[in-house]
Amino acid sequence: MSDNNQNASGGFTHEKVETSNFLMIVLILLVIAIGGLVEIVPLFFQKSTTEAVTGVQPYSALQLMGRDVYIREGCYNCHSQMIRPFRAETLRYGHYSVAGEFVYDHPFQWGSKRTGPDLQRVGGKYSDEWHRIHLNNPRDVVPESNMPAYPWLEKNAIDPTDVPARMKALRTVGVPYTDEQIAASAADVKGKTEIDALVAYLQVMGRALK
Ligand code: HEC
Repeated sequence: MSDNNQNASGGFTHEKVETSNFLMIVLILLVIAIGGLVEIVPLFFQKSTTEAVTGVQPYSALQLMGRDVYIREGCYNCHSQMIRPFRAETLRYGHYSVAGEFVYDHPFQWGSKRTGPDLQRVGGKYSDEWHRIHLNNPRDVVPESNMPAYPWLEKNAIDPTDVPARMKALRTVGVPYTDEQIAASAADVKGKTEIDALVAYLQVMGRALK
C-alpha cells in the first residue's frame, strides 16, 4: 500500500493522515464543522424559519403567564405542540405546524411525548368553561382520562409585578414587545388566577393558521 501512496516529494499523502490519530481527528472535526455550518447557518436567515406567519402575535401578558404555568406544570411531558405533515395527523389535529408559528416561543414546546393529544390546534376547540372543569379534574368531562388534576391553578393568583421583567427578557431575544405593552402588562393580569392565564394560553394556541 505504501508503495502506491509514496510520491517523489514525500509530501502530504493519504497514508500520513490515516496513520496519525491526531491528524485524523483534527481533519474529521474540521470537515464536520464546515458541513454543519453549511447546513445550519442558512436557516438563521431563511424567512420561513425566522419570520412570524401572518396573524401570529406575541403572547399577551396573560397568555404569557399561562405559558409559564404550562411549562412549570410540565404539560409538555404528555402533550406535544407539533403536528407532523402526515395525513393521519392533519385529519386528527388540523393543519400541520409550520416554523413561522413558533418565532415568539422561547423556548418552544414542541415535545415528542404524546400520552395526551397534541395541543397545537386546541385553541377554540373547547369553551373556556370546559378547560376550567377539565384542568380542575379531567374525569369530570372525560371519564376515561388519565390526565392529572390541577386544582391549585384556580387558587393561585398571578403576581403582576412578575410580568414586566419576563416580557423584557423576551424582548432581548427578539420578541417585539413595545414599552407601552410592557408598562400595561401588570394591569392586564391584575386579579387573574393561574387557571385564567393557562386557559388564555390554551385558547390562542395555533389559531393564527386556522
Ligand atoms: C400524565 C399525562 C398528562 C399530563 C401531565 C397533562 N395531560 Fe392533558 N391530557 C392527557 C390525556 C391522556 C388527555 C386525553 C384525555 C382528556 O381529554 O382528558 C389529555 C387532554 C388534554 C386536553 C384536551 C385536548 C383535546 O384536544 O381534547 C387539554 C387541553 C390538556 N390535556 C391540557 C393539559 C395541560 C394544560 C396540562 C398541564 C397543566 C396537561 N394537559 C397535562 C394527559 C396529560
